[in-house]
Amino acid sequence: MDLKNKVVVITGASSGIGLKIAEQLADEGCHLALLARRIELLEEIKKRISRDDLNILTLRCDISSREEVTHAFTEIFKVFNRIDIALLNAGVDHRIKTKNFNSKYAEEIFGVNVLGLIYCVEALLPKLKEQQHGMIVGVSSLAEVRGFPKSGFYCASKAAASKFLESIRVELRKYNIKVLTVKPGFVKTPMTDKNEFKMPFLMDVKKAASIIIKGMKKEKRIIQFPFPLVIGASLIKMLPDFIFDYLAYSHVQNLDKKRK
Ligand SMILES: NC(=O)c1ccc[n+]([C@@H]2O[C@H](COP(=O)([O-])OP(=O)(O)OC[C@H]3O[C@@H](n4cnc5c(N)ncnc54)[C@H](OP(=O)(O)O)[C@@H]3O)[C@@H](O)[C@H]2O)c1
Repeated sequence: MDLKNKVVVITGASSGIGLKIAEQLADEGCHLALLARRIELLEEIKKRISRDDLNILTLRCDISSREEVTHAFTEIFKVFNRIDIALLNAGVDHRIKTKNFNSKYAEEIFGVNVLGLIYCVEALLPKLKEQQHGMIVGVSSLAEVRGFPKSGFYCASKAAASKFLESIRVELRKYNIKVLTVKPGFVKTPMTDKNEFKMPFLMDVKKAASIIIKGMKKEKRIIQFPFPLVIGASLIKMLPDFIFDYLAYSHVQNLDKKRK
């Protein structure tokens, strides 16, 4: 697929993966609608990547609010009259231990990673169906494969996102709407900068962005990387529960010992 002159919406465009994809898509000649809460960052990005032949719209939008999402997509359709690709990338993560268990983090994580994604799809569908074309690219994670300790809300949210995307991928075929799922391993962004544990095969964000764009051009159903972690994740997924429990428990014990 040639991306030139395509209208692309990116949620979570103010930082990390979304920001790098915005920069690279501007180089490809895409018109962009950039969404996030930190509008001042979006304005700076717009200034930096603007060119005479590109139309770039920035919108402040809290993706966990259905009203704000509806409003943002109405604005986008008003300005561009169509959307070719929606990269639904906004996401949050908090490491939650059972020691300080608090459902307010679950509300935030599910509000952004699951409901936010669903609100965007809801706002997109009528127009995409009318257009009879479009691509929805949802960003999940390799963390969906199991419920890793201290990451219960995040893993569960990404598993929900993956299953939701898989389900609509099949249903939307008849409208010529493609649904792609992105499952990154560890990528160096502000989200992972706060992690205190060793992240295997941590990838540079520029590289991650170009892999995702390459996958979009090829219309790959699943865009997952890096390869060694994809293999690792499939093996972890297949492990019998008692072996997973043993390995995960030993890992957590080691981390706790190191911290003391
Ligand atoms: N980095 C990794 O290793 C990794 C691995 C697997 C999957 N992922 C997924 O990749 C996506 C991007 O993550 P990242 O690493 O680039 O993280 P990041 O640098 O922290 O960026 C997260 C983006 O999401 C936006 N966002 C968060 N809450 C929002 C809300 N309520 N409303 C609107 N936007 C919101 C943020 O914008 P504002 O704060 O300005 O609103 C920001 O632009 C996420 O879905 C994440 O789960 C990341």
